[in-house]
Amino acid sequence: MTTHLSQARRVSLKAFRSAFLDFVDDPFYRPKVDSVRYVADGLLVLENGRVKDFGPYADLQPIYADVLTTAYPDRLIIPGMIDTHIHFPQTEMIAAYGEQLLEWLTKYTFPTEAKFKDKAYAQEIAVFFLDELLKHGTTTALVFATVYPQSAEAFFEEASRRNLRMIAGKVLMDRNAPDFLVDTPETGYEDSKRLIQKWHKNGRLLYAITPRFAVTSSDAQLRLAGKLLAEFPDVYLHTHLSENVNEVKLVAELFPDRKGYLDVYDHAGLVGDKSVFAHGVQLTDAEFARLSAARSAIAFCPTSNLFLGSGLFDLAKAKSVDHPVKVGLGTDVGAGTSFSLLQTTNEAYKVAQLRGQKLSSFQALFLATLGGARALSLEDTIGNFDVGKEADFIVLDPRATPLMARRTPHPTATSLEELADQVFALMMMGDDRTVCATYIMGELAYAQPGKTANKTEP
Ligand code: GUN
Ligand code: ZN
Repeated sequence: MTTHLSQARRVSLKAFRSAFLDFVDDPFYRPKVDSVRYVADGLLVLENGRVKDFGPYADLQPIYADVLTTAYPDRLIIPGMIDTHIHFPQTEMIAAYGEQLLEWLTKYTFPTEAKFKDKAYAQEIAVFFLDELLKHGTTTALVFATVYPQSAEAFFEEASRRNLRMIAGKVLMDRNAPDFLVDTPETGYEDSKRLIQKWHKNGRLLYAITPRFAVTSSDAQLRLAGKLLAEFPDVYLHTHLSENVNEVKLVAELFPDRKGYLDVYDHAGLVGDKSVFAHGVQLTDAEFARLSAARSAIAFCPTSNLFLGSGLFDLAKAKSVDHPVKVGLGTDVGAGTSFSLLQTTNEAYKVAQLRGQKLSSFQALFLATLGGARALSLEDTIGNFDVGKEADFIVLDPRATPLMARRTPHPTATSLEELADQVFALMMMGDDRTVCATYIMGELAYAQPGKTANKTEP
């Protein structure tokens, strides 16, 4: 009897041994001893792709001595990173030279997105894009498709095939764009509704109603988007907001009756607790306060904001005590210049520096993990190693390059102070070379050649 039981356990359980770092609370508001969870020699036990147990190896090993264990010595395991704003159709136009937002859209973005009318092409780019995400350690993303419903279909089909927790949506845009790239309020509404019914909560997938921004949607289209959101209150609202000075001016001209940019969306019923607004670089204090009250989230996209010359996001204001706003990190590829959320934390640190603010390594890594999960209202599902959560995680090599190895002589930190320094170096210097492996629901989904694990048979 005991033999049968333990055999059943052996089949359904698996374990990982390494150093682990995750967050149990927000280090912007709580001291690191209360927000950072670091286990220098830990065991993560999974059952059916979810966390069953997590803690020090010495405590758990006796309980799970019979479970097949994969060991990653000298590595650091963290939760899969979360990209709260990215455009899959812009993958191939990354690094487009010389323009700021509105000209960049006309010159590069719209012609590129036109290609996604062809579903086969959209499929090809979706495959490439998701390979890039996993290779960079991103396991969940909030993703723009294009105006063509088939581009969203292609994305969802590929994400479904890989069992990924992804959120995406067809773009709504009915004006101020080329004829071949616009829908109408009615077709946008109907196509989005069909996609919601097919894909929202289909496996791990979720849907975001996605008006591109106030410039390319008429008031009628925004209102229908609001109607749709009211009909499906647990889907997301994903758009751009107050990114660039000329954009803000144009929105004021297009909507003279509104108090400001955010009010355009608010008036249409689009500002709620499942709303994620990319950028927010030019927000007023009143708009920050409104986002806080509405429990909406901002996707902070530093590589994009620097690349397009949009400005310096005021992270300290967003994370204020008086009007706290949920914040996640976005790469915003193709205006963003890297798929790597490590590189994105690097640039976030520099944006904070230019504003005279400090962004600690733990705060930055929080934004890329549990903070992103909170921004997407997914903190009960992903974002750390709490029991019951979906086991999307990544294995990092803090000494991935010769220079990083010099900077970080000891692979495993022995105190929170040492860890803070190690993680800082990892963020400043790390990228896809730092990601040894990516696991989705406990299954290996990407492994960097030459960076293997040790398997221990019980
Ligand atoms: N605003 C409207 N569309 C876009 C886009 O594709 N990228 C960025 N960065 N901003 C936008
Ligand atoms: Zn964007």
